[in-house]
Amino acid sequence: MTSNDSEPLRWKDSYCTGVAEIDEQHRILVNTLNEANAKLTDESSLELFEQLTRDLLSYALYHFETEEEIMNDCGYMEEKQADWDHHLREHRSFSSTVVSIRDNLKLGKRVPREELLAFLNNWLVNHILHTDKRLGEFVLGKKEA
Ligand SMILES: [Fe+2]
Repeated sequence: MTSNDSEPLRWKDSYCTGVAEIDEQHRILVNTLNEANAKLTDESSLELFEQLTRDLLSYALYHFETEEEIMNDCGYMEEKQADWDHHLREHRSFSSTVVSIRDNLKLGKRVPREELLAFLNNWLVNHILHTDKRLGEFVLGKKEA
């Protein structure tokens, strides 16, 4: 982990998938992460950790649903089964990691701020660059066809 891991994420053009609905939601996710970055310190209350992770998780779940509907609409499962499967697994694994972080918070165990933000930032950037962009290419290819 480098010391830059929990610095605010800056939106880059390279994050664009080309699918407007997905890109808009990704920008909102980046803003949500940056808000958490600005508000959280290691001394923040458990309530604040809980609130920020709850808001993030609920928006992430909504966003995953949007992407998964887009996959259904364009035949991603049928035509790119391995990519579809991998994509859904990444969504599920993100959700279960955040759920377990929240379970610990409820037990009074706080994840270090740095560790939480590094996980969130790295996951989002890697997922957008490697997984969502693959989906975006497929969706755009369908529109051209
Ligand atoms: Fe995704």
